[in-house]
Amino acid sequence: NERSEPRVWTKEKARITLPVRKNSGHKGTYGTGLLLAGSADMPGAALLSGVGALRSGIGKLVIGTDKEVIAHAVSAIPEATYLSDGLQKAGDGSVELHDYKAIAAGPGIEPNDRTEKAIQMILKTTCPVILDAGALSERSYEMRDAPTILTPHPGEFSRITGLEVKEIQENRALAASEWAMKWEVTIVLKGNETVIAFPDGETWINATGDGALAKGGTGDTLTGIMLGMMCCHEDWRHAVLNAVHLHGACAKKWTLTRSAHTLLAHEICDLLPEVWKSYE
Ligand code: APR
Ligand code: MG
Repeated sequence: NERSEPRVWTKEKARITLPVRKNSGHKGTYGTGLLLAGSADMPGAALLSGVGALRSGIGKLVIGTDKEVIAHAVSAIPEATYLSDGLQKAGDGSVELHDYKAIAAGPGIEPNDRTEKAIQMILKTTCPVILDAGALSERSYEMRDAPTILTPHPGEFSRITGLEVKEIQENRALAASEWAMKWEVTIVLKGNETVIAFPDGETWINATGDGALAKGGTGDTLTGIMLGMMCCHEDWRHAVLNAVHLHGACAKKWTLTRSAHTLLAHEICDLLPEVWKSYE
């Protein structure tokens, strides 16, 4: 595998790769996604990512989270079903993980032993796996048959690689691509001009998104959107690229008529239906 020059994932590329929702489909066509997110101190992350997934073409969503989070979440997200103490159950093997179309973990969870156990179990499945925030730790990624996607911001990328943030930011595409090839994972290195580096060296830059996204919670929303996109796209690479692209396009849409200072993370999902429609 050789690193290729990064290219821009354009609106036109997104437009032709976004899936059509067929009238003959049913919820099973799109599959069930599992989202492990949220904890007592960060319950909002489960809501942000959960809504992101449900707005992004998923058939069914199961949210694995702490009992106390579920109590808050059901009224905000009645469309999901819930797996109480999902992280604990994933880690101790008391729940079947193999039947999901895709699994995302990390928003609003701590990178501790309990999380690590759950992630190790998730990595044993043949499902596409998205790891973000608290699910990102220094570990080795053995060869999996299914895609593994890491979505670090520069600070998290520094934490898992040992590189300095400055080193990373000086050549973002190179850093993301080198580690993607080394670990055989996909790395979505977030921030202005998010880099999407695939394990075979193919690298893309996203040109949507702006300073309106520089606010807590927007990354959690992206993780959810990516999980949803994984469930409705045939090609998982397009799912990753289009999630980043449309998430950023929502911010751009906001900034057309409103101050970039004022966007709230949950409003990304209010904008998504119209933004996505403009690609169809
Ligand atoms: N231009 C374009 N996009 C930006 C910009 C910018 N200037 N700033 C931020 N973004 C985008 C990123 O590309 C990413 O998609 O906003 C999102 C921010 O994601 P995170 O950095 O993950 O932020 P978030 O998750 O919302 O912050 C809180 O981060 O450290 C973790 O565990 C912590 O869950 C917590 C979370
Ligand atoms: Mg984050």
